Amino acid sequence: MSKANSREEDPYSHERYAGFPDGFFDRSDSSVDDNFYAQPRMVTHIDDRAVRAVGDLYSELNIGGRVLDLMSSWVSHFVDVPEDLVVLGMNSEELARNLQASSWCQHDLNLNHRLPFEDDSFDAVVCCVSIDYLVRPLEVFAEVHRVIRRGGVFVNSFSNRCFPTKAIHGWSQTDDEGHVSIVAEYYRRTGPWADLDAQLRTPLHGAGDPLYAVWGSAV
Ligand SMILES: C[S@@+](CC[C@H](N)C(=O)[O-])C[C@H]1O[C@@H](n2cnc3c(N)ncnc32)[C@H](O)[C@@H]1O
Repeated sequence: MSKANSREEDPYSHERYAGFPDGFFDRSDSSVDDNFYAQPRMVTHIDDRAVRAVGDLYSELNIGGRVLDLMSSWVSHFVDVPEDLVVLGMNSEELARNLQASSWCQHDLNLNHRLPFEDDSFDAVVCCVSIDYLVRPLEVFAEVHRVIRRGGVFVNSFSNRCFPTKAIHGWSQTDDEGHVSIVAEYYRRTGPWADLDAQLRTPLHGAGDPLYAVWGSAV
């Protein structure tokens, strides 16, 4: 097992992950992530309609104030840009070019799930088309709960494509409905989170990337 996929140092890990099948959080490419993300990708990973659906959801949920965009890049998709947006991801060149961000932080969540922020220091946390790359998602969700203020919303959005070698097997081996269930399960096992919701945010029919979102508020 690679360093990135090791859960041996956490004595509670076994219980926390009980019920997930063996190999669920393994990946075809289990090497450390900085190799894969070394080159900046100045692209959008979903089409314009899905990007707009992300921004519209953030506006609908009144996301503002001090916000963390987890697993971010050069774009954060806000229509209404928060006062103070912190972006965290793997590639510093992408993050430094994020025009909506007020600050950025290069941090590998698969090597170190501890978020480098104070308790209760964010009004909201968002994570767009990236949750499938986490090999220790429950620890990261617990950390998000620590850094978000009570009542703050944590929004995860995703589509039906990914970097297949870097997505966990459990994600690659299921469909959209399965992805919603996986993310909802992450919320259920951490928190507590209230007002959990899951929605398809793009039209049911027609061409284009679907955009699903699951969110909840910190209790
Ligand atoms: C498909 S891109 C999505 C980027 C951005 N959220 C968006 O909506 O366009 C996946 C992102 O996850 C981030 N990422 C992947 N593995 C990560 C890790 N181990 N720790 C932190 N961020 C990671 C990468 O930096 C990359 O920007």
